[in-house]
Amino acid sequence: MRIMIVGCGSIGSKLAQAADKIPEVKRIYLMDLHKEIAERTAVGLDKAVVIDSVEEELYHSDLVVESATQEAAKEILVTVVSRGVDIMIMSVGSLVDEEFRNVVFEKAKASCANIYIPTGALCGADGLRSASADEIDSVELITTKGPKSLADVKYLIDKGIDVNKITERTVIFSGTAGEAVRIFPKNVNVAATVSLLGLGFDATKVTVVLDPGIKSNSHELRVKGRFGEMECHTHNVPEPDNPKTSHLATLSAIAALKRLVKGEWIGI
Ligand SMILES: NC(=O)c1ccc[n+]([C@@H]2O[C@H](COP(=O)([O-])OP(=O)(O)OC[C@H]3O[C@@H](n4cnc5c(N)ncnc54)[C@H](O)[C@@H]3O)[C@@H](O)[C@H]2O)c1
Repeated sequence: MRIMIVGCGSIGSKLAQAADKIPEVKRIYLMDLHKEIAERTAVGLDKAVVIDSVEEELYHSDLVVESATQEAAKEILVTVVSRGVDIMIMSVGSLVDEEFRNVVFEKAKASCANIYIPTGALCGADGLRSASADEIDSVELITTKGPKSLADVKYLIDKGIDVNKITERTVIFSGTAGEAVRIFPKNVNVAATVSLLGLGFDATKVTVVLDPGIKSNSHELRVKGRFGEMECHTHNVPEPDNPKTSHLATLSAIAALKRLVKGEWIGI
């Protein structure tokens, strides 16, 4: 298998290191908006080749992994799936727009390209997926983050909220998943994953809490439906090189690649 990693930051660089050790992965094309980041990632890897653009090696790739930004995902998704190349998407919020999402899924279907969305920083996606085979009444996600994870969020800056000056647990957002992924494009990709699995972007409720005393990124998923009720709480260790990203999200990309390579679907 030949893979292309688009975005060699916190997730992409660690995925590249893991992929280098998977015997079935024969080539790893590395692409980043900042070429020096891709070059740094390639150091010490046996199978890595740095490229300048997605187009350059798309025909030679079996799987593209998007681990960049929502904007990057929107730029490449249609191109990749239209060529019949599989894609793994980490910036899941890029699929919030229904019209765009439909185009991506239809093009993928037409060209037999697979779209893979890892569970990311969240646990409970398996239960929600099963529950969705029958009626679901409600899906709620409560995300709690510390100030480092929520720094530079334009919505908060515009509202005059200084995350470093908040001294107690505070709800800073409550609304739909659709609003949440637009307002926090780098923080609540799991809200998009949950929406795609369950009730959609309008009916999924999201609450974002800022807790100055917390060291983890926590996601609490609450689902009610004909199956019963489910509450799943994940306390994630943030990546040292990007506190917005949880280590479990990186691991979910690595685990997804290993499943794809082996073709074994346990807990599917
Ligand atoms: N699904 C999940 O649960 C989950 C969890 C954490 C992060 N994420 C998302 O995954 C993505 C990657 O996360 P990360 O922590 O590795 O981010 P990061 O900021 O550490 O790395 C992103 C990299 O992408 C590069 N990049 C930006 N625009 C690009 C473009 N147009 N083309 C190529 N490269 C580009 C940047 O230079 C950077 O090196 C982000 O969108 C993040 O929000 C998803």
